[in-house]
Amino acid sequence: MKRLPTHLPSLGLAPMEGVTEFPTRLWFSLLGHFDSMGTPFLRVTESFPHGDIPFAWAPELFDPTLHGRLPYTLTPQIMGIDPERLKEVGAKILQHSPLVELNCGCPSPTVYGKGAGSGLLTHPGEFGTLLQDLSHHLGHTQFAAKIRVGIHCPSEFGALLHELQHTSLARLSIHARTRQQKYTGQADWTLISQAAEVLDYPVWASGDILSMEDIRNKSQMFPKISGMLMGRGLLRNPWMLAQHSHMSLDQISTDLQIYAYMHLLYRLDLPQLIRFTTQEIYPHREAVSPERLAQICAKLQQVIHRYPQQPKAERQVLGRVKLLYNYLRSSLPADYFCPPILRAKSIGEFFQLLSTVTPTQHHAHIQLQVQTMYNWMYSGEARPK
Ligand SMILES: Cc1cc2nc3c(=O)[nH]c(=O)nc-3n(C[C@H](O)[C@H](O)[C@H](O)COP(=O)(O)O)c2cc1C
Repeated sequence: MKRLPTHLPSLGLAPMEGVTEFPTRLWFSLLGHFDSMGTPFLRVTESFPHGDIPFAWAPELFDPTLHGRLPYTLTPQIMGIDPERLKEVGAKILQHSPLVELNCGCPSPTVYGKGAGSGLLTHPGEFGTLLQDLSHHLGHTQFAAKIRVGIHCPSEFGALLHELQHTSLARLSIHARTRQQKYTGQADWTLISQAAEVLDYPVWASGDILSMEDIRNKSQMFPKISGMLMGRGLLRNPWMLAQHSHMSLDQISTDLQIYAYMHLLYRLDLPQLIRFTTQEIYPHREAVSPERLAQICAKLQQVIHRYPQQPKAERQVLGRVKLLYNYLRSSLPADYFCPPILRAKSIGEFFQLLSTVTPTQHHAHIQLQVQTMYNWMYSGEARPK
């Protein structure tokens, strides 16, 4: 796999709850070069986690055999409000990781109602004090934050920026929407650029990156931004960074099968998925060539077949595959979305039905391009009339 030209900013997989677990991160590492990948947030409460941090949340940090093997670094993210608990859990994570990030952006009503996630932005002064306290305690080269630009209105960003200028962080990632916007409308990159101009630590941008062209254009327009995090755009075109805009149905199906098998093995036997990663995927740290993907898929399939059927895990994984497939609606031709595929009752049936779509075109090259007319579908907005 080609590395991207070096004049681009660092590129990262945005943290996404319910999406960017270990098998998804591993899968994306096969499809393009990512400098960093975010875990979904780990909720820190009075009673959780006590003792060890859950291993399955970040095997990259806790399993020594993975150290130095993977072509990306991990950004573990925590979410909570109690400074003492955040320090305690943050310090535990830092025993295994060079960085820990605080979630200051989650818009969910439950999270916000408790004052966590984007709720931390409600009072800029208190927000600044919390960040300074955590940065002082955890180390300003190890403590990072991910924020939104305000609660109700982007004009609130000025007060937050004022606080951020008096704080030292390892990295600030900005999802340039307000809490009220949730995932609708457009992210305002001029606000991110404003932050990158005045802050003396790295600023990463998040919101609405849909293609390589977007990455190139935005990095030219906003040269002070150190990194870019990709979220829903990558789900709509997971091959965005692969630098080949055409793929055959066979390749697409192989890659989706790898996704399914990795998620299944994660649930059936995580130590085996880790062994498979170190022995078959990354015996060396080198990136995997597209030619090896078919081999990896076949080997994973063999491994999976050794386990007795586990209907619950299979149902969960089928749900994940369908979720991803629904995202692909905006970059694949319409005939791929015949209803029977989405009604498939098992992983096997899903891929069997997929292989029957446009059977004459298995080797034909399909142009992958995110179609913006589908934006409403992934933002929670109503369908435009
Ligand atoms: C399903 C989903 C889950 C998310 N979970 C998290 C999370 O756990 N932590 C976080 O900081 N942001 C989370 N986000 C926000 C993304 O990291 C990102 O900032 C946002 O989606 C904007 O980027 P996009 O327009 O490329 O999707 C989530 C977004 C989505 C769509």
